[in-house]
Amino acid sequence: MTTVSSPTSHSARIRRSCLSVPAINQRALDKTHGLDCDVVIFDLEDSVFPEKKGEARDNLRRLFRQTPLQGREAVIRINASGSEFQKADIELVLELAPDAVLLPKVDDPEDIREVAGLLAATSPDVRLWAMMETAGGVLNAAAIAKSDPRLDCLVLGLNDLRKDTGVPSEHGRTYLVPWIMQVVLAARAHGLDVIDSVFNDFRDTDGFAAECAQGRAMGFDGKMLIHPAQIEGANQAFGPSAEAIAEAKAIITAFADPAAHDLNVITMNGQMVERLHLEQAERLVAKAQQISLRKTMA
Ligand code: COA
Ligand code: MG
Repeated sequence: MTTVSSPTSHSARIRRSCLSVPAINQRALDKTHGLDCDVVIFDLEDSVFPEKKGEARDNLRRLFRQTPLQGREAVIRINASGSEFQKADIELVLELAPDAVLLPKVDDPEDIREVAGLLAATSPDVRLWAMMETAGGVLNAAAIAKSDPRLDCLVLGLNDLRKDTGVPSEHGRTYLVPWIMQVVLAARAHGLDVIDSVFNDFRDTDGFAAECAQGRAMGFDGKMLIHPAQIEGANQAFGPSAEAIAEAKAIITAFADPAAHDLNVITMNGQMVERLHLEQAERLVAKAQQISLRKTMA
């Protein structure tokens, strides 16, 4: 499989649909193996009542002992820095070695470095993801994005950000756009993936589709989800279309032609194509290959 990476970016991964599953909800946990999402985020934070944190951790211990998630990333969202629950969450992470740990309410780079230090005892393959959901976090987005080599994904959290800032919820997210784009920019400046926030009204399929299309246009790699009914829409919205895959393959073929060996710019179907488009095309094809590989595993 083609692996595309630059000095600041990790290999291309598919993260179109990142489903949050409350670790306290056994029925929901039991369903995770059969769902077509790219990432499962096992939540120990906001969706778990304080007195239930221990039970939620035990649920994850049992689940991780069973069959691993085939071809999908398993992420554990731990409790925030400064929380009395974080120490036991980190111990669980060291025990279970998920693909990544999602740290909520990241305010500054120190929050990331502290957790990265605690993860030092585990494999470097355990990645760190950061929730960008506080006013301070958005202001410090660039410093957070470059804080630690383990970090490879930022996840926007608008429910908390709205609470923090007083900006009400409305379709179109008009007044949040500058902050949202600052998070996207910070991620890209440091080679990170970036995931759009949840859409709360999981029965409103039209509203969800519109927000996915907006997120895609803003440059997000995927969306954090709260309900299985949102998976297919996110996979479609954030996945490469057949047309985009065909175009990417044509670009790769055109640059592989010996005649293009020392050219940085070529013409295809009357349009200028630069070598930077070749990099994008290779990344897109790598993601498309991962998607079909996962389908064969399902
Ligand atoms: N992951 C896996 N399965 C889920 C799920 C999820 N996030 N959300 C719902 N399901 C399952 C339910 O267990 C239910 O199956 P069951 O009837 O066998 O129990 C089925 O899908 C249909 O669920 P539905 O009745 O439509 O919704 P609900 O009222 O049970 O749950 C929520 C609604 C919002 C409470 C639930 O979807 C949820 O907890 N989502 C995640 C919340 C979260 O993680 N928040 C923190 C991040 S923002
Ligand atoms: Mg939150």
